[in-house]
Order: sequence, then C-alpha cells, then structure tokens
Amino acid sequence: MEHKIEELIAKMSLEEKIGQLNQESIIADNERIEELKDLARQGKLGSCILAANGLAGDCEQEQFLIGELNELQRCAVEESPLGIPLIYGRDIIHGCRTIFPIPLAQAATWDYDLIRDAASIMSREASYDGVHWTFAPMLDICTDPRWGRIIECPGEDPLLGKMVAKASVDGIQGEDMSQPGKLAACAKHYIGYGASQAGRDKDPTEWSDYTMHNRALPAFEEAVDAGIATVMSAFNDISGQPATANKYYLTDVLRGKLGFDGYVVSDWAAIERLNCQGVSDNDLLSAALAINAGVDMDMFDGIYKNNLEQALIQGAVNMETIDEAVRRILRIKFRLGLFDRPYTEDVNTTGRVLTKEYLQKAKEMSAHSMVLLKNNGVLPLKKGEKVAVSGPYAEEKESLMGSWHASGEAKDVVSFFEGVQQVNGIENTLSDCNLAEQSDVCLVALGEDWMITGEGKTMPNIELPEEQVAAIQQAKKLGKKVVAVFLAGRPLAFGDIVEECDAILWAWHGGTMCGLAAAEILFGDFNPCGKLPVTFPRYTGQIPIHYNHNRNEYVLSGYYEHHPYVSTVGDSTPLYAFGEGLSYTEFVYDNFRCNKTDTAFEITFDIHNKGKFDGFEIAQCYIQDVVASMARPIKELKAFQKIYIKQGETKTVTMRLTREDLSFYDGRGNKVFEPGDFKLEIGTSSRHSCFTITEYLDFR
Ligand code: BGC
Repeated sequence: MEHKIEELIAKMSLEEKIGQLNQESIIADNERIEELKDLARQGKLGSCILAANGLAGDCEQEQFLIGELNELQRCAVEESPLGIPLIYGRDIIHGCRTIFPIPLAQAATWDYDLIRDAASIMSREASYDGVHWTFAPMLDICTDPRWGRIIECPGEDPLLGKMVAKASVDGIQGEDMSQPGKLAACAKHYIGYGASQAGRDKDPTEWSDYTMHNRALPAFEEAVDAGIATVMSAFNDISGQPATANKYYLTDVLRGKLGFDGYVVSDWAAIERLNCQGVSDNDLLSAALAINAGVDMDMFDGIYKNNLEQALIQGAVNMETIDEAVRRILRIKFRLGLFDRPYTEDVNTTGRVLTKEYLQKAKEMSAHSMVLLKNNGVLPLKKGEKVAVSGPYAEEKESLMGSWHASGEAKDVVSFFEGVQQVNGIENTLSDCNLAEQSDVCLVALGEDWMITGEGKTMPNIELPEEQVAAIQQAKKLGKKVVAVFLAGRPLAFGDIVEECDAILWAWHGGTMCGLAAAEILFGDFNPCGKLPVTFPRYTGQIPIHYNHNRNEYVLSGYYEHHPYVSTVGDSTPLYAFGEGLSYTEFVYDNFRCNKTDTAFEITFDIHNKGKFDGFEIAQCYIQDVVASMARPIKELKAFQKIYIKQGETKTVTMRLTREDLSFYDGRGNKVFEPGDFKLEIGTSSRHSCFTITEYLDFR
C-alpha cells in the first residue's frame, strides 16, 4: 500500500495534490453538483461532507440519493487523470436511522459491549446511504453542563473517556474498515474543546499542558491505539494558540508521541476562522498555519484549495508538507478499500434499517443508560395500577432523539406516555395528573428541548425552569406518589424538587426507544443500572464541579468542602456525584483481600446480591497518589467492572492496577511513575466507598 501511495504521489500534479486536501459540502438536490463534478473530474476534490451548514446537528437532515453520490464518485474514479476515489463523510454521532441514546447517556452505561454494538449498527445503517466516514466519536472531557455539547461527550472522567473511545472505534471501524458496513472513525475535537471558558461554545480554553495531558489526552491516546483513521482539530484556542494551528498538539504530541498515522481534518471552516481568532489576517497565512501545524484536510472553507499553491510559491509551505498530507489521506482511502469498491450499492433499505434487532439493541442501551437517582420504595410500580402521566415532555418525541439525530425520524420514537401505555395498558394510563383521584401515582416527565442542547448552545444557568418545578409541586399537592422522569441531555440543577419526589429517574435524551425503556424500568421489567458519567451540581455557581479535582486546604472532611463561597450559603456537595446510580436490589461488598506482585496490585472482593431483583452492578476502583511531584486529584477512577448478579448470588471481582494505571503526565508531557503511597478505594460511586487501603507501591 505504501508503495502504491508513493507511485500515485509521484504522478500527481500540485493541483491534484491540493485537491486531495479539499473537502466540500454536498447536500441533497445540490445546486453545485455540476461544479463538484467538474472538480472531481479534474482531481481537485478529495472528499465531501454530507451536511448543509456548520450546525448540522440542529438541521433537518435531507436524504441523499445514492445515485447522485455514485455519479459524483464516478467522475473522480473514471474521469479524473489518476482515478482517486472521493471519501464521503457525515456526522453519524449516536445513530443513523435507529437512534441510540446521546453519547453522554451511552457513557452512563459504563458498558464497552453496548457502546461498540451501537456504533456498529449506526455505521451499518449509514453505509447504505453511501457514507464512508463518520465524525465520531466525540471525546471531549467536559465538566461544564452549561456547554450545549456536553451531551455529545463521554463525561468528566479520562478512564471512562478511554472506554468510550475504544468501544466506538471498534464498533465503527471493526477489525478491518474495508469490510461492508464499516466506516472510518474520527476522534474529535482535538483538543480541549470541552473546557471552553464558562461552557461558552468555541470560547478559548485555558487548560495547561499538564491538565490537557492528564484529562483531555487519554481518550485520544486510546483512540489512536485502537487504530482510529482520522482526527478532527478543534475550534478553540488553547492558552492563546488555536487548536487548528497548534503544531505542538497536532504534530509533536499526536504524531510524535501517540504515533497517529491517519489524517487530521479541520473542523467546519476552522481554517478560515483563524482570522477571527486573530492569529492571521489573510487566507494564505491561515492555510500555511494550519497545514504546517498538521491539519491535512480542509473542511468546507476552500482555504487550501484557493491558497496552497501561492503559499508554496511564496515559501510559506513546502512540498514535503503537502505530500505528507496527501500520503495520510490516501492511506486511509486504501485502508477503507475505496480504490477497490468506490461505489455504494443502491439497496432498498426497508427492512435493513430500524430492524427489530436494532430497535431491541437501542432499547437495551437506553435502559442501561438510565440512572435511578432516588427511590423511597415507590419503584418499581405494579403493572396494572392506575398511573397518571403528565409534564411537558410526556408526549415529546423529537427531543428524545437529542441533537445530531442524523436520519432519525420523530414518528419512529416511542414517547414516554406511549411507553407507559405499552407496559401498563392503555386503560391504566391516564394522561393528566389532575385525573389523579383515579390513580395512586403521578409520573411527571421533565427535561429539556433538544434544540437547547448541542452545538452553539450555552445556558447561563442550569436550574430547572419554574414551570417544571411547578409541575412537580402540583402533582405533590394532589397527595399522590410523585415520580419524576427526566428526559434531558445535560445535567440540570433540580435540588428544589428532590424532596417533593418519591423517585427520580434520569432517562436522558435516550433515542428511538427511550420512552419504552423508561417505562420498563418504572414497572420493574428492567432493574436500573446506569451510573453518572458526570457530576450533577446543586447550583450553577458550583460549576465546574467534578469528582477528580486537585486537593486544597478546604478539603477537610467531604471532598467538595473546598468551595467556600457556596458552602456559606448552602450545601457545597454535588447534588449527585460521579459514579452514582441506584438499583432495585441491594449489593453488599465484603471479603476484601489484596495481593501485591512486582508488577501489579490486586484487590479481590465479593459482591452479594441481597435484594429481590437480579441486576447489574458497576464496581469502581479509585486511587489517590498521596504525595507526588505535582498536585494530583483527590481521587481518580482507575478500574471498574460491570457485573450481572442474580438475587441471592455472590460474585467475586478482581481489580488490577499496574504501573501504567498509576502513572501520570508531568508538566512537560512526559508520562511518569513515582513510587510512593497510594490510597486505593473500592466503591459503588466516587462518594460511597466500601473499602480503603494505603499501600506503598513501587512497580517495575
Ligand atoms: C462541528 C463538528 C462536526 C462538523 C461537521 C462542526 O461545526 O463542530 O463536530 O463534525 O461541524 O458537521
């Protein structure tokens, strides 16, 4: 393959090389289609993105005609001088036609297999539409729920981020991405986009190299190790250096340290935006800054297409840099098998998408993602008892698909009300809490509209809107049991209503089958097992709040006592902590034993299911590096296991920590292991530990 790539590069004109670096947008019934065909014939087009604008996650998605895509491909393959195929990309983020829960909810499953399977199904569905490449997974670690894009991310924890990265790459690309139904994946947004100031989308990020390496980088590192084909550079600047022009992160770290050999695509028009970021005042300079930093493909804005030749003539860019970018792009086109099979077969997708099997998987994942936050014993409900369903999101469908729902259609979604009807019977399901005289329980569907989540969306505060608080209070006044079901993308601060609710289920924007999955949990068909991938604050003012922050003098007893301003007026602990989530059964941990070898420290323990339901438990292992050369977090998740335990059964679990697990990046980006005392904790969440031990560890 490398030989073939060199042969091609040797034959390519400069225009053809620059063409490979050029990605244009294509939309259904495209008025520019003839222009694009001409570019393809001349070898001046390398890729198309199937999106109409830079906020594709919020748009009605049009159906692309395979015939049109194949015809454009034919112009490239059969009519251009070298016949290099185009690569078609689209944002297939958490489902194509069958919509799975939003990525943040997927992380709440803590389940590699489910995330991999969902990624695999969405890739298969997208492949029928002629897509070769998806702009997923999004791996931005985020601690700020004001940011609308928190819904697309794996949460606040680097280890969970790594799991999501590997599962997504494995599902999207498979072992061999040239196989039918597989796509090239794209790890985005590299890097630090999830830490923009105050959650304002595309604002600067002020994370130091130290924080960036330890918090943002691990998920990308894992994606590279899993063989990810492409990476997308981020919009934000990092301590003054835009990510799109950041040679240190794009080249020295991504390629030099992590060994990435695929290509980097810019984010939408991000090269042009180097002007707005103030590091350039002309397109030629922007082109040179981006390509010299390591951005290989230019998404949408035509800056490479229109400026690279001049940049070369003026000496701002050299030929080897252009050749290297072409080489990386051709490598992925070869790995995808595009040279052998450039066309997409035009199949009738009826019966191939939204299949029974896919819907079942979507329901399963949705159920696993839901987090039971409170239950005073009212749940599970008895089937056949009269319940009233109310609240602004009871009949909502579109929002349940969340932002970036690709080809998902609201008509396919099971609303919460419909879900309850299906599980509990139409005759037992009343549509209004005011009819509660006839029922024992009010189920109140709260949450947020999908259009206030996603790209370009920032909330100044995340408190629950007054009318939703009122909906709960009204139900409570009727003297019935009140169960709140949240259909939301981001964590919300709803401390005011916790006391009023007998139970709270966090059901997310859970996709096509969300309503049914939630109802099955409420009526005991499925025992909830999701755990929070992100901390829920009590007040907006606590943000950023995350379990794995560094220590300071205010940390005396509780690990959130450090926030003096909040603690003078109220509770400074989180409303719900990272890793929390209840079950209908009771898991008891005991019989802890430790084993130290030269290369690992193992903690083995038993978990008994002492309750009345079978169920999954997610056991978590945290460490604290007691004294280190840099300030280290209070605790860091280092291992977890999700285990199915039947009622009355006991399972034995072993968590194993190695030198790699206990290493961290120092302030200069070197991974170090410092022997010393480590506090190790086994718990059911970041706030509930069952066993703690401090050990001196000095691994080889
Ligand atoms: C978003 C990316 C997305 C791209 C293409 C950008 O505005 O930041 O996440 O992949 O558009 O739609």
